[in-house]
Amino acid sequence: MAKEKTSRIPGFYKLPIEERIRILKEFADLTDEDIELLRRVGALDLKTADIMIENVVGTFPLPLGIATNFLINGKEYLVPMAIEETSVVAAASHAAKLCREGGGITSIATESIMIGQVQLTKVKDPYGAKMKILENKDEILKIANAQDPILVKLGGGAKDIEVRVVHHPIAGPMVITHLLVDVKDAMGANAVNTMAEAVAPFIEEITGGKVYLRIISNLADKRLVRARCVVPKEALGGEEVVDGIVLAWAFADADPYRAATHNKGIMNGVDAVVIATGNDWRAVEAGAHSYAARWGVYKPLSVWEKNENGDLVGTLEMPLAVGIVGGATKVHPLAKLCLKILGVKTAKELAEIIGAVGLAQNLAALRALATEGIQKGHMRLHAKNIAVMAGATGDLIDKVAEIMIKHKKIRFDFAQEVLEKLKRGEPIE
Ligand code: MEV
Repeated sequence: MAKEKTSRIPGFYKLPIEERIRILKEFADLTDEDIELLRRVGALDLKTADIMIENVVGTFPLPLGIATNFLINGKEYLVPMAIEETSVVAAASHAAKLCREGGGITSIATESIMIGQVQLTKVKDPYGAKMKILENKDEILKIANAQDPILVKLGGGAKDIEVRVVHHPIAGPMVITHLLVDVKDAMGANAVNTMAEAVAPFIEEITGGKVYLRIISNLADKRLVRARCVVPKEALGGEEVVDGIVLAWAFADADPYRAATHNKGIMNGVDAVVIATGNDWRAVEAGAHSYAARWGVYKPLSVWEKNENGDLVGTLEMPLAVGIVGGATKVHPLAKLCLKILGVKTAKELAEIIGAVGLAQNLAALRALATEGIQKGHMRLHAKNIAVMAGATGDLIDKVAEIMIKHKKIRFDFAQEVLEKLKRGEPIE
């Protein structure tokens, strides 16, 4: 009798990679070619991958593109972007060129202050407890800073606390201490979580309450980036285009359904650089969207206006918790290389670049949406993708794509038909 399949594999994480692959092959009926594909690793070798996460069986490459034309705070940057989506890199480069016409993008990040939360429960007098915690601020900061002498030596560390009482209909009042930690060039999750865990027993001791969660907040609203650009109306094709972009923004400002897509356009640029530099894009995403909804209504992260000359003024403000030390930034060979390409010296500079890319990406999308629509720009690469899916290789990819564009039929079935005809040397109507 065939052995029953089970995903219950005790100690899978302890097995050598080869053994994991063997088990996987059997479980998912993979072929030798499938396994060959898994083994085909690039710049990130299996050994390194195996120390980054658990249960590794391969690596997962993404296209890495370079966005050109970025002039940020008067400095030239070539920006690496890791992303699977057609047109994003081209759009960022194009928008950066438009921004150059107005002197480039100004982008300023605040200091790297992250928040660690300590959730205190089961206190009868939450406001009294809040005061006790605040009275003991110096001791709390001392305990926190004892966890990371190196960070403190670099000028970082826990700098302040905030205490809030939050109410819940079932759980009752909770006293939430925020440890405000300057994490300098790190993303900061490790340092902050360690500190939050360290101060918890002392908070319990002085309040008589019970601490549950001790964890970083990804709503990093004390670690913001603010980017600004002015795009001359002539560069955009006239004041009508400026008005169209302002109206596109107003739509997002008035309607969360549109704001979600507007912000998605910003995150196309932001995430691509966050990923290329080995940073935690889920943290950045969580921060961005919670910040966008901080007033209780989901809003766009950017604003687009027209100045007295009729030129377009764009501004963006969002949390950006990214680092250049720690985590994958220093382990993933390509992340290290991307940081070298950017030439950044601090996490603050990296955040400023990413904020600028987010703003440019947003501009590109709104300009296209307010004029010819986004599909035109997408078509060439989209057509190539479809051609590849239909089985085209080499020169045939471009040929099939061109014919689909010419016939305005960018579809899988048509790509197959064209490919067959090209292979047989038949004419295409
Ligand atoms: C597509 O990935 C992003 C856009 O939808 C953004 C937007 O609508 O602003 C084009």
